[in-house]
Amino acid sequence: MYVLGIETSCDETGVAIYHSKKGLINHALYSQIEMHSEYGGVVPELASRDHIRKLVPLIKQILSESQLLASDINAIAYTAGPGLMGALLVGAATAKSLAWTWQIPTIAVHHMEGHLLAPMLEENPPQFPFIALLISGGHTLLVKVEGIGRYDLLGQSLDDAAGEAFDKAAKMLELGYPGGPKLSALATQGQALIKFPRPMTDRPGLDFSFSGLKTFTLNTFNASEKTPDDKANIAASFQEAVADTLAIKCKRAIQQTGLKKLVVAGGVSANQQIRAALTDIALKEKTEVFFPRPEFCTDNGAMIAYAGCQRLLAENQQSLEIFARPRWPMDELI
Ligand code: KG4
Ligand code: ZN
Repeated sequence: MYVLGIETSCDETGVAIYHSKKGLINHALYSQIEMHSEYGGVVPELASRDHIRKLVPLIKQILSESQLLASDINAIAYTAGPGLMGALLVGAATAKSLAWTWQIPTIAVHHMEGHLLAPMLEENPPQFPFIALLISGGHTLLVKVEGIGRYDLLGQSLDDAAGEAFDKAAKMLELGYPGGPKLSALATQGQALIKFPRPMTDRPGLDFSFSGLKTFTLNTFNASEKTPDDKANIAASFQEAVADTLAIKCKRAIQQTGLKKLVVAGGVSANQQIRAALTDIALKEKTEVFFPRPEFCTDNGAMIAYAGCQRLLAENQQSLEIFARPRWPMDELI
């Protein structure tokens, strides 16, 4: 069974074809980063319009690159939320229209379920049950995963998501958009000399809070001489604080659940220092750790095609009604 996956929840147009037996056939991504960078962040209306321009050509491209015809596709999976409403609607409406024309089913996929399942596309995929740390621009979640759709929320950010904190800290350091990768690149040139707080690690529980790190960054930056060295040292110290905090919470989640498998996914999981800190803690806890390849950490169509295929195999077919939900708590998934 060939599943076409469509991702348009934010600033990347992603498409992919996944086959239930052969695995990932092909994927393609168009990033809007250049367009939004002029404005220092994602402009929702521009994002929607660009998805409209790029989505159908990308679908045509991967079909022809894969030497497949429209009639070979058995189902279409699309990101139905959470995300920007206009952007989601482009993917949802395109998926529904194609599915109606091709007379095939659609599957509405939860974006964070896509991220959560992305490591399944790798050679050594994790077996259920496992703990998942999902760190993206909009969410920071610790989830106990028993199977597809069987998610127990262990903890989440009470304010900014990890990626959002990276983006805001980068803005304060005048690094531009997208902040996460820029701050991370600068951090490699600095030293973590400043002792940033490790928020919410001095009390029990698995929730996170990252907004304090942002204020700490601003105050530290304003009190500094604002030299390139100051910026690099602040970036390194900030990044170390986020990595440490995530590692402390993952260690707690491993000890609390007794599960010895940890999946880390979402845009921030592309960060090398965070990968290293989590690999280190997992080793100490005799826990296996799984990451998607870096290009599947950030938004992409492959994870949506994969999640949709699994949902379809579980007979999760839906009507032709267009479904898009900008806010969609993951623990409401079944
Ligand atoms: O998963 P994603 O592509 O989109 C959402 O679902 O939000 O995540 C994007 C987030 C952004 O906040 C971006 O700055 C962050 O992931 N990010 C990074 C890195 N690459 C992307 N943060 C830190 N280090 C990176 N290397
Ligand atoms: Zn995402």
